[in-house]
Amino acid sequence: MPEATHAVLDRRSLASDHRRLNELLRPGLRVLDVGCGTGAITRGAAAAVGAGGLAVGADVSATLLGRARAAHAAQARLAFVVADAYALPFRRAVDVVTAARMLQWLARPLDALRAMSEAAAPGGAVLVLDFNHERAAWEPRPPESFRRFYAAFLGWRAGAGMDNAIADRLESLFARAGLARVTVTAQDETARRGEPDFEARAGIWADVAASRGHQMVADGAVTEAERSAAEADYRAWVGAEAREHVQYLRAAAGRVC
Ligand SMILES: C[S@@+](CC[C@H](N)C(=O)[O-])C[C@H]1O[C@@H](n2cnc3c(N)ncnc32)[C@H](O)[C@@H]1O
Repeated sequence: MPEATHAVLDRRSLASDHRRLNELLRPGLRVLDVGCGTGAITRGAAAAVGAGGLAVGADVSATLLGRARAAHAAQARLAFVVADAYALPFRRAVDVVTAARMLQWLARPLDALRAMSEAAAPGGAVLVLDFNHERAAWEPRPPESFRRFYAAFLGWRAGAGMDNAIADRLESLFARAGLARVTVTAQDETARRGEPDFEARAGIWADVAASRGHQMVADGAVTEAERSAAEADYRAWVGAEAREHVQYLRAAAGRVC
């Protein structure tokens, strides 16, 4: 995974990028963060549950977990484990199981949600934060090369069995997984020009073109010329013209019976 993608993950924090988890955590809780990436949010979770609690980050990528361990080794009550969301090595073990921006990458999100539910102790919470990529918005309209790339990105994902609108299916997935007392809250992320990190946040799609874009080229979803034009045009647009980018996210929380 390219450096640009690591930087996107490293910049995230519990307080600003997983607000619903931040509200749920209390000192003493045990939390499992599935698809933790480089562990920036998991680190915040460890701080929130304190000395009497525990935070474990799990990810299928050994590379990302290596970065997580290197970056957060000094944080107490924090551990990382290489694990697949479909086969988590925990059973009725933790108080909160969460996955942020992870189910969007899976072809069988319900199976992963069931594995997450099994990892939680009875009465524990399962919390998922994810996107509806079909409802992202830009102001003003971004360059045509990027709009074509984004349409190809959605098509490439759908072709691989990923659900571009998973944020709006969470409630029904939670019901099918047998979770109780399900609540869904809006967690949209808005980047506005003038904010200190505007270019980094609105520019995420140039990072996607620079990272996943190469896999899309390899899979025949776009040509290299289309990918590189989308990356360059979008970055220039963010630097000069863009005023606002909104990513549509929902958080679903439920209880294990
Ligand atoms: C977009 S990143 C999100 C990282 C972090 N949760 C965040 O919100 O910043 C998605 C993460 O899910 C992980 N992932 C994808 N498929 C997975 C699977 N089957 N099991 C565990 N992790 C997975 C990826 O390796 C990546 O770290």
